[in-house]
Amino acid sequence: MHTHFRLAGVMGWPIAHSRSPKIHNHWLAQHGLEGCYVPLAVAPDKLGAALRALVPLGFSGCNLTIPHKEKALALVDRVEPFAQRIGAINCVVVEADGSLTGKNYDAFGFISSLKASAPRWRAEDAPAAVIGAGGGARAVVAGLVDAGVPEVRVFNRTLARAQALAQDLGAPVKACPWEERHAGLQGAGLVVNTTSLGMIGQLPLDLDLSSLPSGAIVADIVYAPLETPMLAAARRVGLVTVDGLGMLLHQARPAFRDWFGVMPEATPALRNLIAATIE
Ligand SMILES: NC(=O)c1ccc[n+]([C@@H]2O[C@H](COP(=O)([O-])OP(=O)(O)OC[C@H]3O[C@@H](n4cnc5c(N)ncnc54)[C@H](OP(=O)(O)O)[C@@H]3O)[C@@H](O)[C@H]2O)c1
Repeated sequence: MHTHFRLAGVMGWPIAHSRSPKIHNHWLAQHGLEGCYVPLAVAPDKLGAALRALVPLGFSGCNLTIPHKEKALALVDRVEPFAQRIGAINCVVVEADGSLTGKNYDAFGFISSLKASAPRWRAEDAPAAVIGAGGGARAVVAGLVDAGVPEVRVFNRTLARAQALAQDLGAPVKACPWEERHAGLQGAGLVVNTTSLGMIGQLPLDLDLSSLPSGAIVADIVYAPLETPMLAAARRVGLVTVDGLGMLLHQARPAFRDWFGVMPEATPALRNLIAATIE
């Protein structure tokens, strides 16, 4: 094997559904780099051993997906402050000395996708509403707060989880009861679904969009299906929509840069390649 052959992968349980190998291997080929990105089926009780094995196996690092993002935080040698605030890591980098650094690029992925799909969005112009308070929500909310959104209203079925998120992520975040989500969209410039509702096999998210201002943006981080029932309803009334595939593609970019040394682009060709695996 060539000495510059680089390895990375994604640890999850299960992992067969992951689109990340297709994304990263597309970029490796596009940039003429020697390397490979592989799916790694890692059971929850084997996560620590699997992360430590990255070094002797010669990996540059890995992504983490369900259910490992939170638990891995305590298993790496250092965690970037931004990821610490979110409480989860989705990327591990093997440093030159063999130590492991944990990072979170989900917020970068969401904000980059939002800016690419809705270039007229201005963070400081209006409040945002986030539906859900799980791992994905924590990254989205951190990204919105750091981008300068003046108020982020978080509506979650389990209010205590929204309250914990508000406590961890700072003053602009307001925890709101689930029942108030419809009326709570009033005056919001952006609404984001971060729950698993709307996913293939799940119930749709019940959300009345009628109190949103006419220029509002409706985003979903669910990407299967590409157009969730909420996005379809938003499109029908002329609102700008942002799907979850953009976030998935954009979060992969800085991880690829960390491991392989090139910042790749989320091109329309790559989007079509991955979308074809969803529809
Ligand atoms: N596009 C991307 O790159 C990307 C990145 C991360 C995640 N995601 C997607 O985002 C979704 C959530 O992932 P996650 O990691 O944040 O999951 P998670 O941590 O398990 O959180 C799930 C969230 O959904 C809510 N929820 C689930 N079932 C519900 C129901 N029947 N009624 C009301 N609320 C319900 C939960 O509310 P409770 O707190 O009340 O349980 C919680 O807020 C998944 O579809 C995942 O694939 C996409």
